[in-house]
Amino acid sequence: MTLIGEPVTRVEGRAKVVGKAQYAAEFQVPRLAYAVMVTSTIANGRIERMDTLAAQRAEGVLKVMTPANAPRLPQGGRAAVHPPAGRVLSLLQDNLVHYNNQPIAVVIAETLNQALYAASLLRVRYQIQPPELNFKAGFATAHPGSHGKDPANISTGQLAAGMAAGEVKVDQVYLTPLQNHNPMEPHATIAEWNGDQLTLHDATQYISGVKQTVARTLGIPDDNVRVLCPFTGGGFGCKGSVWSHVVLAAMAAKAVDRPVRLVLERPQMFGPVGGRPQTWQHIVLAAKRDGTLTAMQHDVYSHTSEIEDFTEPSSTVTRVLYASPVIETSQRLVPLNLGTPTFQRAPGESTGTFALEIAMDELACELKIDPIELRIKNYAEKDPTSNKPFSSKHLRECYTRGAERFGWSRRNPKPRSTKEGREWIGWGMATATYPANRSSASALVQFEPSGRITVASGSQDLGTGTYTIMAQVAAATLNLPLRMIDAKLGDSTMPKSPVSGGSQTAASLAPAVQAAAKQAQLKLLTAEAGDAGSPLHGVALEELEFQDGRIIRKGQPNSGEAFTAFLARNGNKPLGAIASAQPSETAEQYSNHSWGSVFAEVAVDESLGMPRVRRITAVYDVGTLLNEKTGKSQLIGGIVWAVGFALHEASHPDGRVGRIVNNNLAEYHVPVNADIGEIDVSVIGIPDFKFDPLGARGIGEIGITGASAAVANAIYHATGKRIRSAPITPDMLLA
Ligand code: MOS
Repeated sequence: MTLIGEPVTRVEGRAKVVGKAQYAAEFQVPRLAYAVMVTSTIANGRIERMDTLAAQRAEGVLKVMTPANAPRLPQGGRAAVHPPAGRVLSLLQDNLVHYNNQPIAVVIAETLNQALYAASLLRVRYQIQPPELNFKAGFATAHPGSHGKDPANISTGQLAAGMAAGEVKVDQVYLTPLQNHNPMEPHATIAEWNGDQLTLHDATQYISGVKQTVARTLGIPDDNVRVLCPFTGGGFGCKGSVWSHVVLAAMAAKAVDRPVRLVLERPQMFGPVGGRPQTWQHIVLAAKRDGTLTAMQHDVYSHTSEIEDFTEPSSTVTRVLYASPVIETSQRLVPLNLGTPTFQRAPGESTGTFALEIAMDELACELKIDPIELRIKNYAEKDPTSNKPFSSKHLRECYTRGAERFGWSRRNPKPRSTKEGREWIGWGMATATYPANRSSASALVQFEPSGRITVASGSQDLGTGTYTIMAQVAAATLNLPLRMIDAKLGDSTMPKSPVSGGSQTAASLAPAVQAAAKQAQLKLLTAEAGDAGSPLHGVALEELEFQDGRIIRKGQPNSGEAFTAFLARNGNKPLGAIASAQPSETAEQYSNHSWGSVFAEVAVDESLGMPRVRRITAVYDVGTLLNEKTGKSQLIGGIVWAVGFALHEASHPDGRVGRIVNNNLAEYHVPVNADIGEIDVSVIGIPDFKFDPLGARGIGEIGITGASAAVANAIYHATGKRIRSAPITPDMLLA
C-alpha cells in the first residue's frame, strides 16, 4: 500500500488551474434562461400585494413566479424534510415571511441583466409583524434542542455534590456570534427538464441528497432526477442541505420550458442558505486544588428560525473531553426571525471548544497550574459520559509533541509579561476534538479497454482532495501507478456515497474504493483463468496475481498477459465491480473521535489593541492521514477558519428589521494572507483500524476546533485581558 499517506498533488489540480474544471453555474446549456431570486425586505409578516406588471413587461422577461402563480407542490413543498439534505424551504407556497432575505419570487429572463432589472421593478406591499430578533429575551421561553440520536441534555453523577467537592470554580458565560459560510463559489443551480426527467447542475456537498430531496419535494420519482456536480467551490456545511433556490430553479425551468440558471448573489448567502447560529454558553468547572475536576456544567442557548429547529450542539465537547465524575450539559433553542441556521464547519465543536477551552485556561490560571498539565491531570482514558473505550486516542502525544515543536517550556506563565517593541506577546494553547464519522459508501473500479482504470463514486470533492484519495486508494490496491487511474465523481448515477459533511468522506469512501478495486481484480483474474483463449486458462486462482497491469502466474512477471489483451479478446468491453463499505460492526462498541493540541502566539499592539496571530503549532491524532499534502492543507484551512472565528467573523442582523447589515465580503471579515502567520501542522499518524480498514478518521473539521480558544488564551496571556466572546476585536483590547 505505497501511495497511501504520500503527499500526492491533487489529480484535478491542472484542470482547475487551466480553467477546465467546471463549476455548477458554468455549464453550457443550449437555450439557457436566467433566473434571479427576489427576497423579502421584512423579517416577519405577510405579503399583502405584489405588483409584478412592470417586471412582466420588461424586456426579455419570460416569467415572474410569485406565491400567486407558483405551481402548488405536494404537502406544501414539505414532503421531504429530512436533514441533512431536506430542510423547511420557502417555495412560494404561501404569503408568509419568516425572515429578512427569504425568497419570495423568481424572475426569469433571456439574460441575467434583464432578469436583474426586472427583479428591481417588483413592488411588494407587506403586512408587517414585529419580528423576534432579541436572542436573550427568548431565553425564558426557549425549548430543548435536539441532539441527533443522543438525548439533548445529559447528566452523569450528582451535580450539586460534584460542585460542592470543588475547591476552585470557574463560572462564566461565553458568546459566539452568527456566522455565514461564504464559500468562494456561491450556491448555484442549473435546472433542465427533458420531458419528466430533470437534470440539475448544482453546487452541493451531497448529490444523492439533492436528487432525493428535489424529487420528493416536487412529487416525482427519485430516478427522474439526475444531479451533477464534478466540482464544488467550497462548502463548509451550507451546501450539505438543499435550500430553496434549488427547487425554485427546477420550478422555474418547468414554468418557462427552458433550462434555467439560478445563482445566488453574495448578499443572498446571508440568510436563505444557513449559517452558524449565535450561542450563549454558561460553563461551570469545579476542581480540587491539585486540578482534578469534580464537576463540569455546560448549558447552551443557540438561536434557530421560526420555521425549523437547528441545534448548534456546543455541549458535545464537554461530554467527551475530560474525565470529570460529574458532567451535566443542556441545549436550548431560541426561535428568531432569521434564516434557519445550519451545520457550519465543526457545528458544535467549533463553538463548544471556544467556550470550554477558554474556561479550562481560566481554571489553570486560578489554580496556577500549567494548562497542559491541567488537561493531562483530567485526561479521559475512556469516554466520560458513554463509558465506552475510545477506538484510538493519542492526545497525550499531541500535547507533548505540540509543546515541543512550539517551545512551550520557555513560556513565562505570568500574563502581560512579554513585550516586543509596541506589542504584547502571548502564548496560549487548547485541545482540539471532533467525532470520527463514517457511513455506508459505494464505488466502482473498472478496467478499461484503453488500458486505463476508472474509479467512480457518487461523491463530491469540495476542493478537499476526494478525487486524489480515490485515485490513490485504487492505485495502491491494484499496485499500479497513479497516472493510470481516472477518478470520477459528482454524478448521481454513479454508485451512492454519503453527504460530504461531518468530515466523513475519506473514511467512508476510501474503504469502498479499496473493496471495489479488490473485487474488480478478483473478477479479472477469475475471467482470465476461465477464458479458453487466455495464456493462463485453467490456472488455479490462488496461482494468479495482478502486477504492473498484467495478469500473471505468481512470481513470473513475464507470464500471462496485459489486462488490455484480455479485454481486447473479449469484445473490448470494460470489466469492473461495484462494492460498498459499511461502518465496522464493532464501531458502536467504541467512542470514535479525533484529537489534537493547538498552540498559538499572538502579538497585540499596545496603542491600537490590534491582535495578530504570529504562529500556530498544531498536532493531530486523526488516524492514518491518506494524503499528507491535501490532508495537511485541510487542517491548515481549518486553522485559518479558527483565526477568523477568533478575530474576524460575525454577521450582524439589524435589530429592527433582521437584515444582515454586513452581507458582503468587504464587511463580513475573513482572514486574508496578511492575517495568518506561520502555521505548523503535523499528525501522530497512528492508524485507527477499529474505526476504518485504512485506519483513517476525517480531517475536514477538527482544524477549526480548539484553535480559536488557543488564540483567545494567547491574547489573555499577552494582555491580561480575558475576552469571552468572539470575535475578539481591537476595541475590546483597548477597553
Ligand atoms: Mo460540515 S459543517 O459537516 O459540511
